[in-house]
Parts: sequence; C-alpha cells; structure tokens
Amino acid sequence: MDFDTIIRSGTVATESQTQQCDVAIRDGRIAALGRDLGDAREIVDASGHLVLPGGIDSHVHLAQPSAPGIVMADDFASGTLAAAFGGNTMVLPFALQQKGQSLREVVKQYHAKADGRCYVDVSFHLIIADATERVLGQELPALVGDGYTSFKVFMTYEGLALSDMEMLNVMAVARETGALVMVHAENYDAIRFLTDRLERAGKTAPKFHATSRPIPVEREATHRAISLAELVDVPIMIVHVSNRDAMEEIRRAQERGLKIYGETCPQYLVLTEKDLDGLNMTGAKYVCSPPPRDTASQQACWEGLQQGVFSLFSSDHCPFRYDDPKGKLHPKGRTSFRWVPNGIPGVETRLPILYSEGVGKGRVSLNEFVALTATNHARTYGLYPRKGTIAVGSDADIAIWDPAREVTITQTLMHGGCDYTPYEGITVKGWPVSTMVRGKFVVRDGALVGREGAGLYITREKSPLAVPGGRSAWEAT
Ligand code: URP
Ligand code: ZN
Ligand code: ZN
Repeated sequence: MDFDTIIRSGTVATESQTQQCDVAIRDGRIAALGRDLGDAREIVDASGHLVLPGGIDSHVHLAQPSAPGIVMADDFASGTLAAAFGGNTMVLPFALQQKGQSLREVVKQYHAKADGRCYVDVSFHLIIADATERVLGQELPALVGDGYTSFKVFMTYEGLALSDMEMLNVMAVARETGALVMVHAENYDAIRFLTDRLERAGKTAPKFHATSRPIPVEREATHRAISLAELVDVPIMIVHVSNRDAMEEIRRAQERGLKIYGETCPQYLVLTEKDLDGLNMTGAKYVCSPPPRDTASQQACWEGLQQGVFSLFSSDHCPFRYDDPKGKLHPKGRTSFRWVPNGIPGVETRLPILYSEGVGKGRVSLNEFVALTATNHARTYGLYPRKGTIAVGSDADIAIWDPAREVTITQTLMHGGCDYTPYEGITVKGWPVSTMVRGKFVVRDGALVGREGAGLYITREKSPLAVPGGRSAWEAT
C-alpha cells in the first residue's frame, strides 16, 4: 500500500491557491498532492467538499483560574472537543501566571491540566502578571528557549494589568529572546474611573460593562502599546481589536514600517453593544473585553481583515456558563457588571461565522479565509510549515467542509462545556463536517471518532515575525 489515506476529489485550498486534487497521507503527514496518486488503506471521498488546512485558533482560554468562586466552563478536554467540531486541528491556550507564582511552576500546572486530555493539538502562550526580576532575568528566557515563544500582557484587569515600566521590561526580554508579545490594550485606570462613576449612579446592569470600556479606552492603550514597542523596537500583536480607532492606530504604525500586528474576533463582526442590553441578566452572556461595539465598528473590523491590517482571526474563546453561580450569574455579578466574568465561548463557531459572513458574502476570498484562520496563526507563532497548510511534509491537519450546508447556530449543536452560545440563532452557510489531526479523524461526518488524549502538545519555534526591525531608543544614539 502506498499511503494510509487518500482524500479524493475535493477542492483543496491553501492561502495561495485552490485546486481540484487528491491529498495522500502517510504516517500522519501529507505525502503527496495530485491525481492518480496510487493505493491507500482508506479512500475518503471529498467530492463536492472543500479540503482546507485545519483551523488554528491561537487565542483561547481553557481551564484558566478567574476570580474566587468563578470556574471556566471548558477544561482541555471539552474545549478541544468543541474546537475539533468547529474545524480546528490546533488551539493555543494561555498558561496564566498569577501574582507570586513561578512561571515554570505555572507551565507545569498547565501541562498537568492538558497532557493526555486533548482532542486536537495544543501549545501554550504565557501570560505574564508578575514581571519580577527572577521572571524577567531567568524564567522567561529559559522558557522561550524551551519553546514557549509568545506571551500576553494585559493593560487592564485587577491583578493582571502591568504598568508601563513592567510592559517595557517584558518587551525588552521579548526582544532579547526573540519572543512575540501579545497585548490586551485597554486603559485600566480609565475603566476603573468610569466603573466607579457608573456604580455611584446605580448603573450596574451588564450593559454598562460596554459603557465602562468605550472606544477611547482601547484607542489610547493601543497607541501606548505601539509607542512602548517602538521605543524597545520589538514586534507586538495587538489582540482582539474591536473598532476603527484601534485598527487605524495599528494601520498607521504598519505604514511607518513598525512590526505591529493585529487580531480581531467573531464578536466584533457579528455582535454589537446592543446584545448586552438583554432582559434581566441576559446581557451578561455578551460581557467580554473589549466589548462588542456597533455596526460601524464591525465594518472597520472587516476592513482590517480585508486590507491586511489584521493578520489573525481568532475566537478569544473564554467560556463561562450563564445559568450558574460559578459563571455569569455569580451572586456578585448580579450586584454590578464589574463582577461579571469577562469572556464568551466561540472556538466552535469562529470558522463557520467567518466562512459564511466572509467567503459566502464575498468579503474575503477562500484563500484569505485559510490565511486568516490557519496559515497566519502557524506563521505568527512558530508552527509553520509543520502546521497551517496543506503541503507535502506538513502534518495532515485537515478540515473537510460542506460549503452548501446551512446551519442555524444553537446551543444544542455545541460540544463544549458552556450552556449557551452568544451566536444563537445566526444562520451560516458552510460547515466543517470532518476534522483530521495528523492523519487521524477526530470528527468524521459530524460524529466523534477521535479520543481524548490523541491531541499532542506541540513545542514551537520562535516566530519569524518577532525579529526586531531596527534599533531600540537606547541604541539609536
Ligand atoms: O473578555 C475577554 N476577552 N476575556 C478573555 C480574557 C482576555 O482578555 O482575552
Ligand atoms: Zn485579552
Ligand atoms: Zn483572550
């Protein structure tokens, strides 16, 4: 037998081309592309279907500690199961450092949570919440050397927000070690100021979450993060961008030749602030940061995707159950939006939403879709060409799509640990029906055939995008 599997007669698309061809797989890798490739133990008929690189969702939160009494709805098993049903073959969750914790210890804890539990492949970003001398001088450089080549910093959130000095220090380590910094750009003090004022006025319903984090809060922090990165001369990724002002900050930086990258998410394309305005507490289902904005902001995010300002489309999957005192309906959350856990589920719906709203409605091409959902993630985070493409030698990470299938998104179709989807009732055309990780089906024709633990931890190279562009402000003179 020449091959283990041949996927026959599908339309194969990568970031750069679309062709009718067969895909032959041996030992978990793509072994040949073309016609009449020979024999295989198994022939998969993909006629009438798209054969795409499996999605890589490089921004998900799984089994992450939150405030006391709050529990995230997905662990590594349920989150990666949902990912597989959503056409993804790899996710990049975060290993979150809390104040006082050793980063190395954090990474060990996350491996204990993830190893042997995943349905698709995973790799961790780090979150730096305590930029001590030991973290900056020893732990971070060693961890980057061990393949943890990206880390996120927060400019907001109690217990997580870094000062400008701390941001600069983390950025300087990233520059020295070749790591990529992801930035959550919202101004913490401005949010606290507005939250205090809103609470004093009795404006505590979930919808005021959006009022407390208006566009200038995000624009200012985006501008500041870019300025700090420029001083240090380090590339950064601004994550989950929600509006035109922040997008234009990134565009201007890119036009000035800075290596500033951008990411946006489904919630900024199809939800708005009005969704937070539900009856009683139902608006809590949409509380995430930055909040969804308005239709003009949605249009700006589309432009960011179409014009290459944003290179990544991720879910920012951060699930909390709604009807649960450990989730959105935590007793404290009922007293003020300030205490409603931030984050919404989306790892299973990211790809169908972009396919339907983007490819289906002529806003992005099929090849752009592949780049925005798989290839760019692999390139950005040191996984390419092993992951993110359909090419000889790459892992056989493949999603087979029925481009004609119409699905109305509803919670009963979802496979994760959450009890609601913020995309309830949205009808999409185009759906991933089968997902294969390293040559083995996890989902086949809509049914689970994979097993927990078959997904592996993947050690990453340094990002080619993280190479500094020039000289830091202290080297320039
Ligand atoms: O509200 C959000 N986005 N929660 C997830 C954590 C983050 O900031 O990415
Ligand atoms: Zn964030
Ligand atoms: Zn996030």
